[in-house]
Amino acid sequence: MKALILSGGKGTRLYPITYTSAKQLVPVANRPVLFRAIDAIVEAGITDIGIVVGDTAPEIKAAVGDGSEWGAKVTYIQQEAPLGLAHAVLISEHYLGNDRFVMFLGDNVLEGGIADLVTQFAEGDWNSQIVLTRVNNPQHFGVAELRNGQVVRLVEKPKEPPSDLALVGIYMFDRNIFEAVKNIKPSWRGELEITDAIQYLVDHGYKVYPYVHEGWWIDTGKPGDMLDCNRLLLETIESHNLGTVDEKSSLSGRVIIQKGAEIINSTIRGPAIIGENSRIVDAYIGPFTAIFHDVLIENSEIEHCIVLENCKITDIGTRIEDSVIGRNVEITRSPLRPKAYRMMIGDNSQIGIL
Ligand code: DAU
Repeated sequence: MKALILSGGKGTRLYPITYTSAKQLVPVANRPVLFRAIDAIVEAGITDIGIVVGDTAPEIKAAVGDGSEWGAKVTYIQQEAPLGLAHAVLISEHYLGNDRFVMFLGDNVLEGGIADLVTQFAEGDWNSQIVLTRVNNPQHFGVAELRNGQVVRLVEKPKEPPSDLALVGIYMFDRNIFEAVKNIKPSWRGELEITDAIQYLVDHGYKVYPYVHEGWWIDTGKPGDMLDCNRLLLETIESHNLGTVDEKSSLSGRVIIQKGAEIINSTIRGPAIIGENSRIVDAYIGPFTAIFHDVLIENSEIEHCIVLENCKITDIGTRIEDSVIGRNVEITRSPLRPKAYRMMIGDNSQIGIL
């Protein structure tokens, strides 16, 4: 089997974090979402991976390279514009050929990986396998209607959802999907929808197997979802320390200190992760916080946050919570002191706090 990861698109829902970078490269628990997708695919035994890229192609190619870091072979497929998930399949026909393949949306994270799903599909005679999960807000996703365990209808982001079963961004197909993507028309949002292509398969008698996933799944396309994903992944970490912690500091719960990080006169309550060469000085880092590489947190308190590389957070009189802080952000003290800050701050920002 081959894999196709979709890593084009615009990432508008994560602006301003993604004004200057690909959404699939935003790290959760200090590892980019796209790397986690590749991890899951390779763990399932697939090493022939196509990645569909758009405007952010140079950045994605620089980060992933030829895939040798994973022992995989990566082929890039350029999409001229984000014309839909089915369009991404259409332009990948040459690469995919006659192979059965798994398609993985590059901003999705699924608990437990995909190894079992891939084995089941590789050994079965289904033309397609879709992954579904129950959600509270089905109108934000593709939604499936099942009857007697069979897929009868699929609708993309319906105002009145026929069920609470959302389509997770992991799909498996054989080559009949190319017939489907060539025969559908763009939707109201101007995209060739994979949901419509799967409906085509159902309507034309192809076998589509609905697999209902019971663990967690996150589409990291929105800031709140990224914090949720960060939290869920941090729940699973095991402590280790590749940096230095002075005797005045205290660590409790599960904490990862990455290479070259320094913890000085600080308290860290896990689960938390401190990235390479970051310095935590006279500070408190609370649960569910991921501090990426080359960050300075000094004389400040921070909890349930994602902080990207090269930020400086110093002398903040109150605690920062529930925030995603982009690259190269500086937050320093200013005279007034509200009790909590909740923020979505873009890359390269400089902020003086009240
Ligand atoms: O996350 C699951 C949902 O993903 C499904 O429930 C929906 O049925 C499916 O349409 C999709 O909806 P989204 O609106 O969340 O898709 P989004 O535009 O965020 O794109 C998903 C990924 O695919 C993202 O990594 C960007 C990439 N992409 C997207 C488009 C439209 C491409 O590579 N090319 C494209 O043309």
